[in-house]
Amino acid sequence: MSVNFFNHTDPQQFRLHLSLLRTQSLRLLAVLGQTGRPVSIVFMDDMEMAEYNQTYRHKEGATNVLSFPAETGGELGDILISVETAWREATEKGIRLDQHVTWLIIHGLLHLLGYDHERSEEQAELMQAKEEQLFQAIQYIHSGGRTMPQLAINVDHIATIREARGGAEPDPVLAAGICELAGAKGIVVHLREDRRHIQERDVRILRQTVKTRLNLEMAAVKEIVSIALEVKPDLVTLVPEKRQELTTEGGLDIVANEKKIRKTISKLAESDIPVSLFIDPCPEQIKAAVEVGATYVELHTGRYAEAKNQKEQDQEFHLIEQAAETAFAAGLHVNAGHGLDYRNVSRIAALSVIEELSIGHAVIARAAFVGLDQAVREMQDCIDLAG
Ligand code: PXP
Repeated sequence: MSVNFFNHTDPQQFRLHLSLLRTQSLRLLAVLGQTGRPVSIVFMDDMEMAEYNQTYRHKEGATNVLSFPAETGGELGDILISVETAWREATEKGIRLDQHVTWLIIHGLLHLLGYDHERSEEQAELMQAKEEQLFQAIQYIHSGGRTMPQLAINVDHIATIREARGGAEPDPVLAAGICELAGAKGIVVHLREDRRHIQERDVRILRQTVKTRLNLEMAAVKEIVSIALEVKPDLVTLVPEKRQELTTEGGLDIVANEKKIRKTISKLAESDIPVSLFIDPCPEQIKAAVEVGATYVELHTGRYAEAKNQKEQDQEFHLIEQAAETAFAAGLHVNAGHGLDYRNVSRIAALSVIEELSIGHAVIARAAFVGLDQAVREMQDCIDLAG
């Protein structure tokens, strides 16, 4: 993990939003071109800070932030922050504690990279300008608090039940309306080549009825591309498709299918349809996604969701966290999905660069017991609580 937090303060006294600060710090490293270089950030009280200030700077009393560059190459170094001083300063400025701590992290990081405001006025101005630029670059906080990812419901499995009897019920179009009334901000359907669940009729009617956003999942094949061009969904998500699979198994290999994907993206772009690429959370695929002209990536959360134990889940989570930051820093919009359920969604929902979570199976399965409206609302609660 490239950003390590050590919190020596009482969490009851200072409510530091650590997941947000971690996301901000990772994003800062990405924007500064320092992704992967370890940095330790230690949160402490004034008393502890005063000791460091005395020992290393021979100054009395606490200060807000101190930086100690690493002596060896790979690591960036340590940043010490007095949360007590930060809290006082934030109160004086009338801003939130996490906003001010973010400023201090920026300040500390710039010191680690050699910026200095004490050497000359010119350098002080340069550092201040850089601080402001970085703060703007990582802004994503709306005035009342941070943005949470939006919930998009995949209604394929309603169609799966319908197709089990080959009749008309239950209707995924009706399901989509219930999801939207329950608060979902998007509807996702996968029009497969084998038409095992969603049918062309569903997509065409949904285009007329969906009030939020219609995301059409599909393979990059001629027949489905021409349907997409006619229907004009709000977003197309390209996925790999195998006839034998139960559900989409892995992410797209953009590198191996570069020509086909690039062509599909530019065809859809002619009709102003943005494209998302469903990929595993790995840097090569993100780079390739930028190169072929994708607007979004959807990070595959399947391996995280299926992890056998905590250690494995942590490893998969960190891959998603890093990938989300890398994709965001590369200018892509970031969605995520697959296998997310009521237990595992919160860690992913706390990753604030993620715009939308695409969730199907868990919600439809729960709907069988509690009803679709409640199942959607419960998932929304899990996402809201993650902040
Ligand atoms: N995202 C993509 C690209 C998918 O293919 C699927 C499965 O249809 C999902 C999200 C939703 O996965 P789940 O049904 O496991 O929530």
